[in-house]
Amino acid sequence: MNKHQYEVIVVGAGGAGLMAALNASKTAVTAVISKLYPTRSHTGTAQGGIGAALGNLEEDHPEWHTYDTVKGSDYLGDQDAIEFMCQEAVPAVYELEHMGLPFSRTPDGRIAQRPFGGHTNNVTGKPVRRSCYAADRTGHMILQTLYQQCIKNNVQFFDEFQVLDLLIVNGVAQGVVAIELATSEIHIFHANAVIFATGGFGRIWKITSNAYSLTGDGVAIALRRGIPLEDMEFFQFHPTGIYKLGILITEGVRGEGGVLVNDKGERFMEHYAPHAKDLASRDVVSRAMYLEVRDGRGINGKDYLYLDVRPETVNKYATLDGRTRPDGTPYQVTGEEILQKLPDIIDFCRTYLGVDPIEQPMPVQPTAHYAMGGIPTNIYGQVVLDENNTILPGFYAAGESACVSVHGANRLGTNSLVDILVFGKHAGIHAAQYARGAQFQTLPQDAADFARQQLDRFLNNDKGTEKISDIAEEMKITMMDHVGVFRTEEGMNVALNKIRELKQRYWNIKLDDNGKVFNTDLLNAWELGNLLDLAEVTTASALARKESRGAHAREDFPKRDDKNWLKHTLAWLKDGEIHLRYKPVVITKYQPKERVY
Ligand code: FUM
Repeated sequence: MNKHQYEVIVVGAGGAGLMAALNASKTAVTAVISKLYPTRSHTGTAQGGIGAALGNLEEDHPEWHTYDTVKGSDYLGDQDAIEFMCQEAVPAVYELEHMGLPFSRTPDGRIAQRPFGGHTNNVTGKPVRRSCYAADRTGHMILQTLYQQCIKNNVQFFDEFQVLDLLIVNGVAQGVVAIELATSEIHIFHANAVIFATGGFGRIWKITSNAYSLTGDGVAIALRRGIPLEDMEFFQFHPTGIYKLGILITEGVRGEGGVLVNDKGERFMEHYAPHAKDLASRDVVSRAMYLEVRDGRGINGKDYLYLDVRPETVNKYATLDGRTRPDGTPYQVTGEEILQKLPDIIDFCRTYLGVDPIEQPMPVQPTAHYAMGGIPTNIYGQVVLDENNTILPGFYAAGESACVSVHGANRLGTNSLVDILVFGKHAGIHAAQYARGAQFQTLPQDAADFARQQLDRFLNNDKGTEKISDIAEEMKITMMDHVGVFRTEEGMNVALNKIRELKQRYWNIKLDDNGKVFNTDLLNAWELGNLLDLAEVTTASALARKESRGAHAREDFPKRDDKNWLKHTLAWLKDGEIHLRYKPVVITKYQPKERVY
């Protein structure tokens, strides 16, 4: 048995994990365990920017960012946490700048900012330039910058290790169990503080912007260890995924003046969100797209629409909207400017679709993008166990795997990067402080058994008949059809029964590879179990919530119901059954009101 001891262990090497590790490593001996090589983490795909009220191009305030985030969350976000995040966003961006992140610049050398959905000037209601960006490669730049800083700070990395279990001894977190992918050896990492920053689980759905690796590992491990999951019914569909592939086309395209059009050539968002139009919040835009397609206005009668960023289109609508540049001159763009600001998405479209966005519109459809729910935490990343916010000492979560809750029922674009920076940092600082003052507990002899059993069930199942890919495909299609942009009781019951059937069949999987070297077949089987558990919790939580709020849109309960449902869901898995309880939303300044975009 391989045993390691660190003061702080971080699981996951995306932006939240690296930010946590960097900050923890300033005062504690810290290691990061990642199933990927760190700079391949999913943060690298984040395109459009980090929301922070720097006010570099026009008036802006963290308070406006706070209000927009509360409104965007459909009033389900905890307002104390949102205020903390939006205030902290500003120093977080400057900190990255000082670490060397190559932000795009204004002509006078300040960090450039672009408009994004739901971010507004709170006085005029017009879109405000708040997203701080590095072309459309912001996440990639964050990863490179933070990884270099971690190396400089002597953070130890265990790359291509898959964490399988969380160790809890005498009611405190004490480390994790992991498998080394190159050898299949089991390792125990003993630690006084464990931070999960393992990302989301968009791979539950058929069309998703999420990488193959986003299988909700940390979230599912926590669930199996008796920790509830918060607000799992809220999963965001980003309006603009490449048709059929789901690959993200940044909202920055619309920030730069791109518009969505239907088969009749209409800019249909004018009907659904007369003020914000294409820059309404994502839940609003995705629903509008779904309705356009359902009403027969998809392109060529199919289930996609066009995102048009051709200069002539941008300039036409900029004139109609009266859009100006910061110096007051009319906003008019050239193909070169579009290319300079959005190089990656133009490259994606040219490569994957044979479509050149400077000359042709891009075919897009909503794509499963972001989990608003996850492991419940406070603003220091401490994981909480119930509606009284009881803390599990030594266990922390940050980033998409966590639910603070700052995104509530719908996240605003750019706030995921704010979330990973702010809460990654504070989880790292707090975990290091805690770990330095805590005593290591003696680990039980059988500490690795639960992890081993989960793998042995597959390795010893010679008589299995099921294939991983069949079960995964059925799950993804079921979730897409019944727990997608719109939901009904009938559809979700179909989904729940199907997921439960798939969970039975799951234990009858036959592996194609029983070897020890990079056994990705074994890994995929284990990951599928995580997705199935999370699909079940998502569906059960959604079925119970009899209202529409943010990304949870029920055709049978089309209205938001603050009287009965202004509350967070907590879901436990006990003896194979899901149990739901609820906890109040923290409301400080902003009383819920109808959202108008
Ligand atoms: O559209 C985007 O660039 C995505 C950003 C986000 O999810 O925050």
